[in-house]
Amino acid sequence: MCGIVGYIGNEQAAPVLIDGLSRLEYRGYDSAGVAVFNGQRLEVVKSKGKLAVLSDMIHGGADIKGTVGIGHTRWATHGAPSDTNAHPHLSTSERFAVIHNGIIENYMELKNKLISRGVSFVSDTDTEVIAQMVEYYYNGDIFDTMVKVLNRVEGSYALGVIDRDNPDEIVAVRKDSPLIIGVAENGYFIASDVPAILNRTREVYYPDEKEIIFLHRDGVTIYNFDHEAVEKELVHIDWDADAAEKGGYEHFMIKEIMEQPKAIADTIESRIKDGRVRLDDIELTAQQISDIDKIYIVACGSAYHVGMVGKYVLERLVKKTVDVDLASEFRYRSPLVTDKTLVIVISQSGETADTRAAMAEAKKLGARTLAVVNVLGSSIAKAADDVIYTWAGPEIAVATTKAYSCQLAVLYLLGIYMAQETGLLSAEEEIEMLRELLSLPGKIQSILDKRDDIQYYASLHYNEKNIFFIGRNLDYAVSLEGSLKLKEISYIHSEAYAAGELKHGTISLIEDGTLVVAVATQDRLFDKTMSNVVEVISRGATTLGVSKETRSDIRNTCDFAFLVPETDDLFMPSLSVIPLQLFGYYVASMKGCDIDKPRNLAKSVTVE
Ligand code: AGP
Ligand code: GLU
Repeated sequence: MCGIVGYIGNEQAAPVLIDGLSRLEYRGYDSAGVAVFNGQRLEVVKSKGKLAVLSDMIHGGADIKGTVGIGHTRWATHGAPSDTNAHPHLSTSERFAVIHNGIIENYMELKNKLISRGVSFVSDTDTEVIAQMVEYYYNGDIFDTMVKVLNRVEGSYALGVIDRDNPDEIVAVRKDSPLIIGVAENGYFIASDVPAILNRTREVYYPDEKEIIFLHRDGVTIYNFDHEAVEKELVHIDWDADAAEKGGYEHFMIKEIMEQPKAIADTIESRIKDGRVRLDDIELTAQQISDIDKIYIVACGSAYHVGMVGKYVLERLVKKTVDVDLASEFRYRSPLVTDKTLVIVISQSGETADTRAAMAEAKKLGARTLAVVNVLGSSIAKAADDVIYTWAGPEIAVATTKAYSCQLAVLYLLGIYMAQETGLLSAEEEIEMLRELLSLPGKIQSILDKRDDIQYYASLHYNEKNIFFIGRNLDYAVSLEGSLKLKEISYIHSEAYAAGELKHGTISLIEDGTLVVAVATQDRLFDKTMSNVVEVISRGATTLGVSKETRSDIRNTCDFAFLVPETDDLFMPSLSVIPLQLFGYYVASMKGCDIDKPRNLAKSVTVE
């Protein structure tokens, strides 16, 4: 989710806002805008595209006069990138302007209620609901109004609000999204992240959730929802600008690995209601699902590895044949596709050339296409018949982690949804599965809390020349991702192999000291995989096992083992991939590699 900046002080606000937003560009965004009180009204200028487009429109901000304003760079979640959907959003009377980072999960319900009471909307976003609610509930006291509005809102938000009729104040509040308050010589700031204001002040307040912050020309006051003033400690930021962009982490990749619990929670929670999966994003009726006689999952790289997991998940839940194919292969092999084929394409960027072309080929052959994409309004998202968005937020590191995990979560949701719609899941089974699904963010956090163990193991093996990953079934699918994570950022040669297939050739490569990582989380295949581990040990291999806490006996076979919490076997990939991501990261970090921008690679491969 992108960037917000607000300023009140004795300087012209617009140039300050543009400058602050430019320091948040690393977070990726699709549109931007500012709102400034110009003495008469709230002057709003916003546009789709890069910040430079907006800045050029207002000559860097010089065209807009006024010393209080708010600005936003948008990472769209609801409503495609466009001038109208860009923030700030005005209430109908143009009295209030709002900027927002996050997702208003119940926005449709709130919007419909306001529409039924005569309020009209101009955008497709969730955020505009906030602007209209502030106006609708305004009773002369903005504090009361904000509490009334926020008590009705579900989801995540960092909000900035300015009022044309009370122009000497900015109101801000956060829940689940980042927000800081900057205290500078010449004024006061709100921002979603430290880099936005680091060139103006290093003194910040970190407000807690559900505290309402008022910025005036002479200071900052913070209240809890009971309207009690809250004392906050002013914190001095000693990061440099580069560290600040990464939230204090050394690389975007580790920052994004650590963001996975929240990203997955964002992706799944608003799609589970009353014990059922609600995919309002797509139109896939029970009849349409029943009519599907074949499912393809088509993607590249890590997205393809998600498809490999998806094959097992969908076949087990939906009882339909699922083929997984590399997009670059699918598009040229005259695939057997009819109007009864569902082709699921997976892409973080939504711009991968091979995947775009594969989807076009599928559509040409009459298939129904469903895209799982992270970037709203991307080419693949626009061209697909249906889209389910991952809400991972901007992913900057070339090596995907949080988007991969959110894609897995979407496929679990899709599988449960298709099974529920076609009566293949009892209510009890569904409730149990959804309970497990909702427990994943917390379980992933518990793995991340033990990341030092993986860092230690990586310190023993970062000079390896070859590392093999093996597993069976879902564990094989995860091994593919573990191997790619390692090799694409550490440049160590690595292969993933179906554990049962090793003896048909590749085992000839195993020699004294070769490191083999064995993923063994599937109960019914555990012993089989351990047999394969013994095979490689007998040829001199060193072995790292990855399994679940109930299989600590893996330590009787493997030299070292990393255990993750228990969950439904179908969801184990979401947990077992975490130590593999961390292993790849720490090995590459100890080798001093350029982790966020590995050689020869691009974040989105938009060429064949
Ligand atoms: C994954 O870490 C790599 N960066 C790469 O394999 C990537 O998954 C692949 O290029 C597909 O990208 P997409 O998800 O944006 O389509
Ligand atoms: N959900 C809001 C939108 O789609 C805010 C997105 C963001 O955090 O930039 O406009």
